[in-house]
Amino acid sequence: WPIFADDIDAILDLKRQRNAVVLAHNYQTPEIFHCVADIVGDSLALARKAMTVEADVIVLAGVHFMAETAKLLNPGKTVLIPDTAAGCSLAESITPEDVRRLRQCHPGVPVVTYVNTSAAVKAESDICCTSGNAKAVVEALGVPRVIMLPDEYLARNIAAETDVEIITWQGHCEVHELFAPADIRQLREDHPGVTVLAHPECPPDVVAEADFAGSTAAMSDYVARQKPSRVVLMTECSMSDNVAVDHPEIEFIRPCNLCPHMKRVTLANIRAALEQNRHEVTIAPEVAGRARLAVERMLAI
Ligand code: 13P
Ligand code: SF4
Repeated sequence: WPIFADDIDAILDLKRQRNAVVLAHNYQTPEIFHCVADIVGDSLALARKAMTVEADVIVLAGVHFMAETAKLLNPGKTVLIPDTAAGCSLAESITPEDVRRLRQCHPGVPVVTYVNTSAAVKAESDICCTSGNAKAVVEALGVPRVIMLPDEYLARNIAAETDVEIITWQGHCEVHELFAPADIRQLREDHPGVTVLAHPECPPDVVAEADFAGSTAAMSDYVARQKPSRVVLMTECSMSDNVAVDHPEIEFIRPCNLCPHMKRVTLANIRAALEQNRHEVTIAPEVAGRARLAVERMLAI
């Protein structure tokens, strides 16, 4: 990719000079994912790997809650987010006050919080989960009912797989809520034999019509293991682009929706982050301790 060569070379140099690593989510564009990232993965893998980073600086090529999670788990490092406006509609959907009110309405019911939330919301929670471990977390609590927030669809999709009763919130991912069951029917008609994989942030009627539902890492593993001849990933656009690079023999059908927050991160602002040490992620100490506990409880499962 010659148009990116200047920024890529600069970022590789800056990483060496600053003893920095780039952690990139699976929704980052291929030139970031394949050319400058040291560690790639889903939210769960990025959290786990952030914890063991030894470099001085972590650049989180992803959205803000992912950078906060890295900072919570490795607080001695400088964590940079290339664009502070890289948010998430799920994280925006709930406040710490909302969590406190929910607890009042359901006394004694544990709160399981999706990592796609602010550190302040995590701090009000008993434990976190990601799309990759939500069922395991809910069941590990050993209780008949949990509050799972803020993603209504993830909660309903997990509720369909467990006997634990789940009380949810009305947050939605602005990317995955756009997929509909009619899209899957049309895809199957237009591309006979296509295998349909969906992210569990999709509405339950979409997940019900898919062949498999799982986190971004689980979708990637499914493709590598099952090697379907044609596949569609009902998720963010860059996911197919990144997975397709490793599987030239597989036909990727690509209707997709862009996450405007993920797309705020570019090679240019990763380079600027390293050159100017911007934008450093900080978490108020009164929030950090409790939020860290919720994330660490999740990682212990
Ligand atoms: P994963 O944890 O599956 O990577 O999902 C993160 C996300 O933001 C999905 O929209
Ligand atoms: Fe948030 Fe959805 Fe974007 Fe993921 S894809 S970061 S859940 S808005």
